[in-house]
This record gives sequence, structure tokens and C-alpha cells, in this order.
Amino acid sequence: MEEQWKTASTLAAQARGLLSVEKDAIANAANLSALLFMELEQVNWVGFYFVQGQGQELVLGPFQGKPACVRIPLGRGVCGTAAETRQTQRVADVEQFSGHIACDSASRSEIVIPLVQNGELLGVLDIDSPVTNRFDETDESFLTSIAEIYIASLA
Ligand code: SME
Repeated sequence: MEEQWKTASTLAAQARGLLSVEKDAIANAANLSALLFMELEQVNWVGFYFVQGQGQELVLGPFQGKPACVRIPLGRGVCGTAAETRQTQRVADVEQFSGHIACDSASRSEIVIPLVQNGELLGVLDIDSPVTNRFDETDESFLTSIAEIYIASLA
């Protein structure tokens, strides 16, 4: 457990360092996707969806993994639900999530964190795993802080 925490804090520090030199939302999303995909275990997709279309839909942003669906209406799928409710969606088994959108058939569990800056929804950070129940509360709190690092980097 101590080892796990050390890894998480090292990764958070790496993310902070990587994003601290740039404010561009796309560039930082691209680098953060690459870092998380490289460092997290048992993940098959890491990426961003950004709010577009007058706030009615999410559009695919920088990611690592297989090509994914481009547009997701707010309220649809795990991503659209996280965006609409502004609540993190931690799904232990995607087959049990009604309306889950299967982009990579290998995905078994998923976590989606809404990105909110000064009360405005920017989009979501989406991470998929080929393993059922991959993400626990510790992962959720770690990934929430990673999302906060990303949002802070834009200011
Ligand atoms: N599974 C997501 C769609 C995006 S992919 O996982 C990359 C969803 O249900 O919203």
C-alpha cells in the first residue's frame, strides 16, 4: 500500500512538472493522456472529451488507445453521464451500466472524471480498463487530483 501511494505521488508530481510549462488545453491533454497511459497499469484507453455544440455534446480530444467514438451527447454513456451530472462515474462492470458506449470491446471497467473550471464544465477525463473492477476509491481520489492538476495548468 505504501508503495502504491509512493507511485501515485510520484506520478502526480510528474504530471505537475509536465503540465507546468504550458497552458494550452490540447497540448496538456495530449501529454497527460500519454503519461497516464504509459504509467497506469491495466488500462487500455486514456483520453479526453471536451464540451462543444453549445454545451450539448462531448467531442473526442487527445487520447491514447484504440480509435474511439467522436461525439457523445450529454447524458449518454458513462462520459455523457459524468458530464451532465458533474459527478465522477466509477463503473466496476461496463456491461452493467445501462447505455454504456463500447468503443473498445476490450474495456471491462471505466472511470470518468468531470473537468470543471470555475464552475464551467470543460469536458471529462475517461480511463478504461480491460479488467473488471479496476478502479477503487483510492484510484478515484488520485485521478481526481490528476484532473485538478490538468485544470490548474490551464490558468
Ligand atoms: N465508454 C464511454 C465512451 C468512450 S470510450 O470508452 C473511449 C462511454 O460510455 O461514454
